[in-house]
Amino acid sequence: MKAAILIESLTGNTWKAGELIAANLQQENWSITGLSAVKSPDHASIQEADTVIVGTWVHGLFVVGQAPWAVDRLRALPAMSGKKAVAFCTFALNPGKSLDVMTNTLLSRGAEVVGGLALHRGKLSEHAEEFAIRLVDSVGAR
Ligand SMILES: Cc1cc2nc3c(=O)[nH]c(=O)nc-3n(C[C@H](O)[C@H](O)[C@H](O)COP(=O)(O)O)c2cc1C
Repeated sequence: MKAAILIESLTGNTWKAGELIAANLQQENWSITGLSAVKSPDHASIQEADTVIVGTWVHGLFVVGQAPWAVDRLRALPAMSGKKAVAFCTFALNPGKSLDVMTNTLLSRGAEVVGGLALHRGKLSEHAEEFAIRLVDSVGAR
């Protein structure tokens, strides 16, 4: 399988998570067509991929008002019809409904959303591995 990874990150956690996910998927013989920022997505890598992974971080008041950061930029991503998409967000305390919002946004870009996971910023390695395992299982490409 070929995956493009698109990341929105302020302090680096989500970018790091994207790199860890890429490494885990490569161990499962996936190829990564590109890792780029949501604000300047690598269009060629998206075109080449069959699966697009989109990650951002949770902002809010920690217990209320959580939302994925830069959802407007996610809405402006290129159309992804015919592609699978999967969302993740990194968070500190509680991601709220951030993943649901991301899922709906990816659906609006025409993608078939095959899953999503919230990754705790203190457990990025473990949660990135879990994300990759679930993704590989969900598309049946181990
Ligand atoms: C302004 C701001 C608001 C945040 N609000 C929340 C929140 O409501 N809930 C939460 O779990 N984490 C919250 N966080 C923590 C971030 O989601 C977490 O640190 C994330 O991993 C940052 O990703 P980044 O390093 O890629 O920017 C907030 C962080 C910032 C800077």
